[in-house]
Amino acid sequence: MTDVGADAPPARDVTVVEVGPRDGLQNEARAIGPAEKIEFIERLLAAGVSALELTSFVRADRIPQLADAAEVAAHFPHRAGVRLIALTPNEKGLDAALQAGINEVAIFAAASDEFSRRNINQSVAASLEMFRPVAERALDAALHVRGYVSTVLGCPYQGRVPLRDVVALTESMFALGCAEVSLGDTIGVGTPGTVRALIAAVSGSCDVRRLAFHGHDTYGTGLANAFAAYEQGIRTFDTSAGGLGGCPYAGPAVRGNLATEDLVYAFEGSGIRTGIDLDQVVAASMWVAQHLGHPPYSAAALALAR
Ligand code: HMG
Ligand code: MG
Repeated sequence: MTDVGADAPPARDVTVVEVGPRDGLQNEARAIGPAEKIEFIERLLAAGVSALELTSFVRADRIPQLADAAEVAAHFPHRAGVRLIALTPNEKGLDAALQAGINEVAIFAAASDEFSRRNINQSVAASLEMFRPVAERALDAALHVRGYVSTVLGCPYQGRVPLRDVVALTESMFALGCAEVSLGDTIGVGTPGTVRALIAAVSGSCDVRRLAFHGHDTYGTGLANAFAAYEQGIRTFDTSAGGLGGCPYAGPAVRGNLATEDLVYAFEGSGIRTGIDLDQVVAASMWVAQHLGHPPYSAAALALAR
């Protein structure tokens, strides 16, 4: 890849989908207001983030931290070259996203029935029927549709999740019209070995270039897992500034989503370009951490912010 001009976005070998403003903030004990969210997002975009989960249009009583979805989304009209994604589980969520001017929506499934029921109140099979009109209407409106398959390496309720279930569900998400499907290690139990087996299994029937890896760092394997996914051909990684989000099934000090700056430090230092400025993303993480009242869950942020 070569630089094409002074005003061109930075060249990159991988795409980082920044999930802090949605997946991160939804798991935080302290909610921050829309003005803080908007500043956090602006700081992340200034750091070079080219794809970002803006918010989700879900029940406010289920996810009160994102009850201001419409206000936050309305602040970010279409920006050339930047993917701003909102989660929309059903048509009611899609209606709200369309009204707010969102141009990429995400439908989110899980590979285990019990997780799916507790998360979106539907079995896996029923959730696909719920997503069908969401995807159809979004595509008719010329929106991009992203898909998620959660619990790909383990479920907090079911335990082991058979790879064949993950493969079948990923195929179904593509069949619904998803341009990209993100494979989520929701409880962070993956290891480089299980991640390799996962990507090998899914890429047997799905184009690996259209898969993303959504890794968590619960057991400290987040970076090793990301490299294992990279070696298997994955080029899109979901990460969260400051490792925001914790782990929804563990105590408050336990890490959740892999931190964006940890991935940027390790990938850039290995010659894999992310297009993200490390110092700026660390500054964004430190800024939001002050508003949330705890230090970032990120080794790189803590080392660099001394
Ligand atoms: P439901 O209760 O099944 O919906 O919710 P319903 O159709 O039965 O309606 C019940 C009430 O909810 C009605 O209101 C609806 O209007 C309202 P009432 O008439 O009683 O006043 N309602 C809504 N309100 C706002 N927005 C909507 C909506 N839909 C219905 N979209 C629903 C189903 C999915 C909405 C609900 O279960 C929910 O909000 N769940 C939260 C889902 C969520 O955000 N979970 C976190 C996602 S994280 C994840 O999945 C993992 C991931 O991050 C990757 C990883 O880390 O691995 C992606
Ligand atoms: Mg996550």
